Amino acid sequence: MYSSPTHSNGYQHQHQPGERRPGPGMTHRERGKRGARGRSKSRDSRDSHDGGGGGGLRVSDQKTHQEQWPPCTDFDMAYFNSYAHVGIHEEMIKDRVRTETYRQAIMQHQSFIAGKVVVDVGCGTGILSIFCAQAGAKRVYAVDASEIALQANEVVKANNLSDTVIVLHGRVEDVIIDEEVDVIISEWMGYMLLYESMLGSVIVARDRWLRPGGLILPSHATLYMAPVTHPERYSESIDFWRNVYGIDMSAMLPLAKQCAFEEPCVETIVGENILTWPHVVKHIDCYAVTIGELESVSTRYNFKSMMRAPLHGFAFWFDVEFNGSVISPINSHAPSPLTETQPVDGSQRKKRSNPNEALVLSTAPEDPPTHWQQTLIYFYDPIEVEQDQLIEGSVTLSQSKENARFMNIRLEYASGGRSFVKESVMR
Ligand SMILES: C[S@@+](CC[C@H](N)C(=O)[O-])C[C@H]1O[C@@H](n2cnc3c(N)ncnc32)[C@H](O)[C@@H]1O
Repeated sequence: MYSSPTHSNGYQHQHQPGERRPGPGMTHRERGKRGARGRSKSRDSRDSHDGGGGGGLRVSDQKTHQEQWPPCTDFDMAYFNSYAHVGIHEEMIKDRVRTETYRQAIMQHQSFIAGKVVVDVGCGTGILSIFCAQAGAKRVYAVDASEIALQANEVVKANNLSDTVIVLHGRVEDVIIDEEVDVIISEWMGYMLLYESMLGSVIVARDRWLRPGGLILPSHATLYMAPVTHPERYSESIDFWRNVYGIDMSAMLPLAKQCAFEEPCVETIVGENILTWPHVVKHIDCYAVTIGELESVSTRYNFKSMMRAPLHGFAFWFDVEFNGSVISPINSHAPSPLTETQPVDGSQRKKRSNPNEALVLSTAPEDPPTHWQQTLIYFYDPIEVEQDQLIEGSVTLSQSKENARFMNIRLEYASGGRSFVKESVMR
């Protein structure tokens, strides 16, 4: 079972337990076993394939790249199925912070996009592709392996954009695009940034089609972590059992702790829950990052608590930047200066500095809430920390061997003479 987002207190869509953005663990979305390419004949988009990009959906049958790129597994098929449902697209599109920032980023780069060729990696309903067409793109390849691509094609037709937006139903790893592209746009970020492992597909698109000097939106991403205190949360889930209608139900405590805190929790916290400045877990330059680099991400952290408080665990969140190609050395594959110089020694900054004033989509607790909320790794019991107490350890996020879209989280903690390791899986 995956962890359900048990708390949500800011984002306009109130998550129900068991509901979150889909991922490989969302078995309730895996209805039927129809994969993206195994759909029924009546809905088979091959029926509408006109072969010329004049409004028909194109279906990828090519196996050309399957030796070079990762093969499509049953887990991938379940993942694509999870995106065939309208609810998740509605949730993402209604997340105005997300969608408006993407639209703003596209419009900010309008002079670059106008007259150019774009690929939208994972187009979903086609919204970002249509924004790009509105920005004057000459041609947009809207690629999605989920059956939602069929809907995207209808949306494109209904908006008379079939001459510009070509919907390709297939994996980015498999579809054929017979030209270089100038722009890659994608909304690939999962919980804790790396959950879902979709960035790998953006890398594949970059390495297959992006011309030198091309633009990737977003261009950079940063994952942060910070220690949190959250007495209300602990009290609601755990202390509750101490006195239930006058009955001592403390016998429930071990089970309650396990159920509440064994796995990562997706929920909204606020700035006051954070005990000190965050630490950068990983900074990603989308022009340079490699697939291998994402298999396992490890960092040592070193915090100094700014106050005396019960420490309940750690929060993770991310931001992405939309830098122009002038700012980023496109395709140079040189590491961004920030990649190698993030402080890992206690000199945490609240946010990565943004000298270029690039547009940023932030999921930080102090910023307006998004459907990503924050991801919390709770301890089973709070730990009292003093002001200025050092909290140190390491965190490793690795793709599960079982299913690369699952994320294994190993958290090592040491402070005030105590140390332990907490391992969890985000499924
Ligand atoms: C987070 S949604 C974003 C949808 C849309 N771009 C938006 O912003 O509303 C990601 C989409 O990417 C698709 N996707 C993920 N990996 C893909 C791949 N390797 N090839 C094609 N589509 C992919 C999923 O099916 C899903 O529809």
